[in-house]
Amino acid sequence: MVTFAKALYQYYNPLTMTGIVSFENIKDMHSVAADLSRSLAQPNNADIAIDFPGTMSRYRGDVEDVYKNLLETGESCKPGVREQFIVYAGEIAVGLSAVQLVKEPPEGIDLNVPNLSGFIVNPWRGKGFGSLSLRYRLDVVDERFNGKAYSLVRKDNHISQRLVEANGLVIIGENESKYTYLYNRKLQ
Ligand SMILES: CC(C)(COP(=O)(O)OP(=O)(O)OC[C@H]1O[C@@H](n2cnc3c(N)ncnc32)[C@H](O)[C@@H]1OP(=O)(O)O)[C@@H](O)C(=O)NCCC(=O)NCCS
Repeated sequence: MVTFAKALYQYYNPLTMTGIVSFENIKDMHSVAADLSRSLAQPNNADIAIDFPGTMSRYRGDVEDVYKNLLETGESCKPGVREQFIVYAGEIAVGLSAVQLVKEPPEGIDLNVPNLSGFIVNPWRGKGFGSLSLRYRLDVVDERFNGKAYSLVRKDNHISQRLVEANGLVIIGENESKYTYLYNRKLQ
């Protein structure tokens, strides 16, 4: 088992400042706000709104508003309940991810099983950040969420499907447009 301290060391390199940082450890939220609002306004990142319309409206637009929304999200985080992370490429915030319990999980998912979600912005996709971000969150799930989590992936999102399947998630349900994937540490 990877301890959380080891995971932190493994997933964030203080020299290159590349890796995953939880919201409570972000040193410069203003620069995160500037990076996200700029990237999310680019047409090549418009697909993020398909899966995360709320996130898109909170973090795209006026930088001061984005900054306030980021702080608000940070304040709502609580270990083992709602944890959010920024993915850094050097000093640039290139993605966001979350592990969180939800009030109404999909069919077949217990209330104490958190949802995994996240994105990486272009032009930083395809460079391994999505995999790093997911592996990090699975360690968080093992450490503080009893080793189980689910993720909803659109049926036409083949990149995300490959990513979650490569990390041991399996389909346990579906609706018209999405698969429900489950991660269970005990089955790894
Ligand atoms: C899904 C997502 C997070 C992946 O992030 P990423 O940084 O591009 O992922 P990685 O670079 O770690 O690549 C993960 C896998 O996808 C593959 N991949 C990435 N971009 C690809 C592309 N454009 N075409 C084909 N394969 C691609 C990689 O080759 C890798 O597979 P491999 O391990 O078999 O080589 C990112 O595409 C994204 O944010 N998409 C929009 C939002 C979304 O779909 N979120 C997930 C919904 S829960």
